[in-house]
Amino acid sequence: MSNLEYFKIQIGSFNADEEIPFDLFLTINEKQIHYLKAGDSLSEEKIAKFKTRLNNSVLIPMAQKKKYKEFIHNKMSSPDISTNEKAFLLRESSKSLIEELFESPEVEDALDCSNQVIQEFMHFMDTDPAALTQLIKLSSHDFYTYNHSLDVSIYSLGLGKIIGYSGKDLQELGEGALVHDIGKRQVHVDIITKAGPLDDMEWMQMRKHPLYGLKILNDHNVSNAIKACAFEHHENMMGTGYPQKLPGSEIHPFARIIAITDTYDALTTQRTYNVPKTPEEALNFMKNKLKGKYDEDFLEAMYSVLFKLKSAA
Ligand SMILES: [Fe+2]
Ligand SMILES: [Fe+2]
Repeated sequence: MSNLEYFKIQIGSFNADEEIPFDLFLTINEKQIHYLKAGDSLSEEKIAKFKTRLNNSVLIPMAQKKKYKEFIHNKMSSPDISTNEKAFLLRESSKSLIEELFESPEVEDALDCSNQVIQEFMHFMDTDPAALTQLIKLSSHDFYTYNHSLDVSIYSLGLGKIIGYSGKDLQELGEGALVHDIGKRQVHVDIITKAGPLDDMEWMQMRKHPLYGLKILNDHNVSNAIKACAFEHHENMMGTGYPQKLPGSEIHPFARIIAITDTYDALTTQRTYNVPKTPEEALNFMKNKLKGKYDEDFLEAMYSVLFKLKSAA
């Protein structure tokens, strides 16, 4: 069986000793080894070993994907699992799907996955009032594109909801946030993962990712709103953004939302060359030092998403 006949998930999706209703495989020396039979469970020690030695991920045969989804869905609907655990589970189960978004050769499959990920997040937020707070608490604050995309989606769903979006619009906003940096697939990995600040040539490459993103999405059946998220999220209200220097009034509202959540995530994220700001410092910095760049009403609403209180200073 080739690797394409499996999908990868994070071991954090499982609790010790619970019955796992599908087979698990590991990749060892580029071969897939049958690791756990459907119906068996993982001991606490095995899970711990995974977390330290085995890169945290296991494979499930594509043919059993439905069983995996049901497994996660059942846990998400269980009254016996706390909001905090559900938030963790949802993040863990989404990570591998998002990784596919950036690495899988099958963009179409990855886009389908992003649709399902956002549906699960919206369902969770609709059924549990504490969901968003717990999801935000678990923000990873790291610079890997997968985690960044997941965090930007969660913030954007929160901000979009407070602004008044719901249903299909909110779903589209969430998906758009998830794929906003999809163009980074086309930027060299050395630039994406560079530990220090980028030089001029590297910046030139990096600044092409909105256009690359648009080109990727143009080849697929994706709405214009989602395309705008990828293409316009580095524009700003002063008309000095890139790649088009669009005036604020012409920037799609979803892209204006993502401009805020994207910058917020970058400012609160640990990189080797900066000290991350606290949530409050980051928003105040955007409001005062980056004044005029962001939609003021949306930025004001971001305070409510994060602190459920009015704006500071
Ligand atoms: Fe970006
Ligand atoms: Fe981004």
